[in-house]
Amino acid sequence: MAILIDGKKTAQVIKEELKEKISSLIKDGKPVPGLVTILVGENPASLSYVTSKSRSCVEIGMLSKIEKLSSGIGEKELLDVIGKYNLDSNYHGILVQLPLPGHINEQKVIESIDPQKDVDGFHPVNVGKLVTGHSTFYPCTPYGILELLKRYQIPTSGKHVVVVGRSNIVGKPVANMLLQKKEGANSIVTICHSAAKDLTQFTKSADILIAAIGKAKFVTSSMVREGVVIIDVGINRVEDSSSSKGYRIIGDVDFESVEKIASYITPVPGGVGPMTIAMLLKNTFQAYQNFQSGN
Ligand code: GUN
Repeated sequence: MAILIDGKKTAQVIKEELKEKISSLIKDGKPVPGLVTILVGENPASLSYVTSKSRSCVEIGMLSKIEKLSSGIGEKELLDVIGKYNLDSNYHGILVQLPLPGHINEQKVIESIDPQKDVDGFHPVNVGKLVTGHSTFYPCTPYGILELLKRYQIPTSGKHVVVVGRSNIVGKPVANMLLQKKEGANSIVTICHSAAKDLTQFTKSADILIAAIGKAKFVTSSMVREGVVIIDVGINRVEDSSSSKGYRIIGDVDFESVEKIASYITPVPGGVGPMTIAMLLKNTFQAYQNFQSGN
């Protein structure tokens, strides 16, 4: 039976570490780190993510603001709001929750964020630094995955990591991060996706499988080998009348069958999800430190 990788507990530990650092800033009469999250429209999932992010900031003593904007806002107006926060020294991190409404050019919005405040790590300048192995903000979900592997002392060097999914938020960055010749990385990386004729041919050879597909219970025990480390990034809402919300969240991995043969596995919920927020806080703290030291 696989060892459970407890993302909820690990995220809590990271939050406590940051809370302590912020407490000593406050004791020294210094300003605290600040994060502004910008939400356009009323997508319920996005609202729930943004609310959790803001709540976590407050929990650890960070300044937090949610800028709620109407779904009808024009692109130019949104860029102006971002421009205002680029210049506001109370906010060291700016996060624009994605996806944005169709009439807004997402890439243009990402590129309008000051790379020094881009705590999502989505700006092309920061993506470029990540790919070339330079110090930058790592996108929060991939950063959370690397942190879990590190804290559970799961070796990555020379291991075959298979990433299923090629999104800009998870698949591409996590593959690039694990590829770097660095401690906690140095892996042999394969990225596969929906065009693969026989996905199992790839997933079966994984020492570490990162599932970021977006399809509930997609990865089954017949697709992986004994002893594999499973990182499940899926957040799929499925109807559940027995839950007060009317739905429950399940991952991309068929947990019940795969946990019997894996060596380690992240649950959903309580695995990668809580780590995403913890790493966002870590990036915001880093942005604050860079700002204070004039970098
Ligand atoms: N939407 C889904 N995941 C993310 C994320 O990590 N950052 C932002 N800004 N939007 C998202």
